[in-house]
Amino acid sequence: MKIAIYPGSFDPITNGHLDIIRRASKIFDKVIVLLAINPDKTCRFSKESRLNMLVEVVKEFKNVEVDFHNGLTIEYARKHGANVIIRGLRVVSDFEYEWAYSAANEYIDKDIEMVFLMSHKELSFISSSAIDELFNSGVDISSLVPKIVLEEYAKKNQK
Ligand code: COA
Repeated sequence: MKIAIYPGSFDPITNGHLDIIRRASKIFDKVIVLLAINPDKTCRFSKESRLNMLVEVVKEFKNVEVDFHNGLTIEYARKHGANVIIRGLRVVSDFEYEWAYSAANEYIDKDIEMVFLMSHKELSFISSSAIDELFNSGVDISSLVPKIVLEEYAKKNQK
């Protein structure tokens, strides 16, 4: 069984991430979307809120699950019998981070492959920070994120 992990901060999940999940779900038997911790980031949405958004978004896929892990993604992959870690590539500047990420993972476990999916051109400008900035500037982001993200933004703004 080919199991793939798709890790990220998903702060929040965007249609760019969703596109990668959709395509990965067609390639692998099972995909685990893993809410992981990027120690360099302070997240705008709580862990619960990000998990809620992910769970809602993956409901449409029969072979996609959501999980959370505080630790190395590659260790999670090993423990869960995953053979692959998926990453999305948008622009050339992603390459440098992905190269280091991939090299560190290879150092730990050579048997787990990194698989890179190229983002569709029309989604390649999206990042979670860009979404947040556009939303906070009053721009309509409804065509860039799943509906649940708009709902979580609305909840956040009520507080
Ligand atoms: N569509 C839209 N946006 C995308 C995207 C896509 N296909 N792919 C990436 N992005 C965006 C993300 O939203 C994020 O935006 P932001 O920086 O504005 O928040 C940005 O690109 C970077 O994404 P990514 O590289 O996936 O970083 P991340 O913080 O989301 O995830 C982890 C990094 C969590 C996967 C990584 O830190 C991790 O695995 N941590 C666990 C510990 C570990 O194993 N560390 C490795 C040691 S070397």
